[in-house]
Amino acid sequence: MTSFVYSTATTITGHIADQNHSLDWLFAVESTDVGIENRLDTSGALVMGRSTYEWLLAHEDVLDNPEKWLGFSGERPVFLFTTSEVKLPERSDIRVRRGDVAEVLPEIREAAGDADVWIVGGGDLAGQFSDAGALDEIELHLMPVALDGGQPVFPRRVESDRLSLIDARKAGQISWLRFAVDAPGRADA
Ligand SMILES: NC(=O)c1ccc[n+]([C@@H]2O[C@H](COP(=O)([O-])OP(=O)(O)OC[C@H]3O[C@@H](n4cnc5c(N)ncnc54)[C@H](OP(=O)(O)O)[C@@H]3O)[C@@H](O)[C@H]2O)c1
Repeated sequence: MTSFVYSTATTITGHIADQNHSLDWLFAVESTDVGIENRLDTSGALVMGRSTYEWLLAHEDVLDNPEKWLGFSGERPVFLFTTSEVKLPERSDIRVRRGDVAEVLPEIREAAGDADVWIVGGGDLAGQFSDAGALDEIELHLMPVALDGGQPVFPRRVESDRLSLIDARKAGQISWLRFAVDAPGRADA
């Protein structure tokens, strides 16, 4: 069964990017391969907002090197939420959508097949899936970094009756945390 998983790296101050949308603080953290599974391996479709997409375009120079997009997403369809005009790399399966995420859910589920949906970010877009009752898991790679501002990891109020810690591991300097998310009302059902 398809799970909708919001998986992201975050600081201890709850930011996924700084005020300038920079991730330099993230790549400065020494990474250690301790066998945490690659989120892509279990994903049949990806979801992201425009800022996240533009970061990938700029960071990887994807428009001039379209093969790098396939290096990131493989053949998986990517649902890009934006109201802006965007350029797409050649041969990519990027499906531009806008508006209520609930209306796009059937299409995303079908695209994912039996695999999961990786909500790459940002935090508010993940929140929109939560609002629509389509967020099953939040996976955090918690970095030993504090920032004094930036993009929030999950700008929603969701309390402990709906979030349960299902796994936690130390990966070098990184804490890997997985939370199951109950849809609103499901916990009381
Ligand atoms: N730390 C990590 O692992 C990690 C992971 C992912 C992302 N990031 C970074 O975090 C930052 C996230 O940026 P962000 O908070 O601005 O979020 P974002 O979701 O990447 O981008 C926000 C934009 O997405 C579009 N959007 C969102 N919901 C929409 C909807 N329902 N319909 C149409 N368009 C919609 C809007 O674009 P328009 O203005 O075009 O309408 C909105 O301005 C980026 O810098 C990204 O690189 C970090």
